[in-house]
Amino acid sequence: MSANEMWGGRFAAGPSAIMQEINASIDVDRRFAAQDIRGSKAHSDMLAAQGIISDGDRDAIHGGLERIAREIEDGHFDFKAELEDIHMNVEARLKELIGEPAGRLHTARSRNDQVVTDFRLWLRGAIDELEPAMADLQRALIDKAEAHADVLMPGYTHLQTAQPVTFGHHLMAYVEMVGRDRGRVRDCRARLNECPLGAAALAGTSFPIDRHRTAEALGFDRPTENSMDSVAARDFALEFLAAASIHAVHLSRLAEEIVIWMSEPFGFVALTDAFTTGSSIMPQKKNPDAAELVRAKPGRVLGAFMTLATVMKGLPMTYGKDMQEDKEPVFEAADTLALAVAAMTGMVDDMTPRPENMRRALEKGFPTATDLADWCVRVLGLPFRDAHHVTGAIVRAAEERGCDLAALDLPTMQRVEPRITEDIYSVLSPDASAASRTSHGGTAPEQVRAAAHRARDRFLRAAPGEARGTASRKGDEA
Ligand code: ARG
Repeated sequence: MSANEMWGGRFAAGPSAIMQEINASIDVDRRFAAQDIRGSKAHSDMLAAQGIISDGDRDAIHGGLERIAREIEDGHFDFKAELEDIHMNVEARLKELIGEPAGRLHTARSRNDQVVTDFRLWLRGAIDELEPAMADLQRALIDKAEAHADVLMPGYTHLQTAQPVTFGHHLMAYVEMVGRDRGRVRDCRARLNECPLGAAALAGTSFPIDRHRTAEALGFDRPTENSMDSVAARDFALEFLAAASIHAVHLSRLAEEIVIWMSEPFGFVALTDAFTTGSSIMPQKKNPDAAELVRAKPGRVLGAFMTLATVMKGLPMTYGKDMQEDKEPVFEAADTLALAVAAMTGMVDDMTPRPENMRRALEKGFPTATDLADWCVRVLGLPFRDAHHVTGAIVRAAEERGCDLAALDLPTMQRVEPRITEDIYSVLSPDASAASRTSHGGTAPEQVRAAAHRARDRFLRAAPGEARGTASRKGDEA
């Protein structure tokens, strides 16, 4: 094997096969091809503008890079493991295509600032696709919540029947979670959008480069401030993985609810064949596979965070080859999340509530017990703690009788608390219970409709001249 093309000056012999295998990253970082070429164009443009290379060399470099971009797009590019990574694959091909000027491209640059520039560009693009997809999930949830703002179901704590809520209210809870998830992803984007290019290996460069120019050309808000931090930091990727993990956890909670709601004893929702599968042996079954898979996906995403955090932990300044392991977890998390969000959005759009089964569930578990206690406070002036005891005794009586509270006779209640009147029945139906909860953020259908209306404004309305969810963003052109 020959000595390396890029640093052959000092190396007489080639690497052992096993060295090449552990060292090469091309199978992973070829996903950076477009970003790498874009970065190299901006860099050579700046070098020419600063008089560091000639305009002729810049033109040759640009022509070669454009041809490489086409070769990669058409699937004709020959990625070589012996060239290690995407940066050296592109540069070596450039040399084949244009000869000597290719060697000038790497002036005032190192793979250390190059790779992290590519990475930030890639992740920015991934976020710009993910975040609108998350907004679309919110859209699906809001649509469904509005359509079923009046549908009553049991609200649970400890998965025990607690109080009646509306199906719309339940779904709107997830609109809020996803809204915060989007905020976290946006925060991550805002912090990562600084350009490390020009930090060179770690210390900056003696060439008179213009880092503001390359930052601007690549759509970054500004160049990074410290050259060592520029090549050493991967917290932008960790931050994305942390935000992605939280979002995956939220998706899994909704997925689990869908699994529960689809189960026979609940039967709260139906999904069509589009998001379910049958059993090869039990013909009656309709399995919520998509929901189960979304429930399982956080394993990958949380694992990705753990992987990268473990790679980075304890690394001394600045770049270490350890950091080559930074991309796979981010690709894995971004791909997983894109799929999970799309599947969840599809399921929410597809889902139909089954109000009759929800209502049947409300007949058990005394979901209006709190309403009974509140009535005793409001009408009889009992302290809430005393009202709680009274209600407990009445619930026990209903339990013995095997009926729900609305069906319990007045004399039985009066044996517990003599001042209770017929008026008590006005609060004991699930409908009355939900309708009475009109506090801001409460489950009354009118509140749910108002919340859905506000949510459209808060989360889905694009400001004039802006794409939805991409407010005042730099960098998404090209
Ligand atoms: N393939 C490398 C990576 O992904 C590029 C940077 C290599 N830098 C170096 N000094 N060997 O991290």
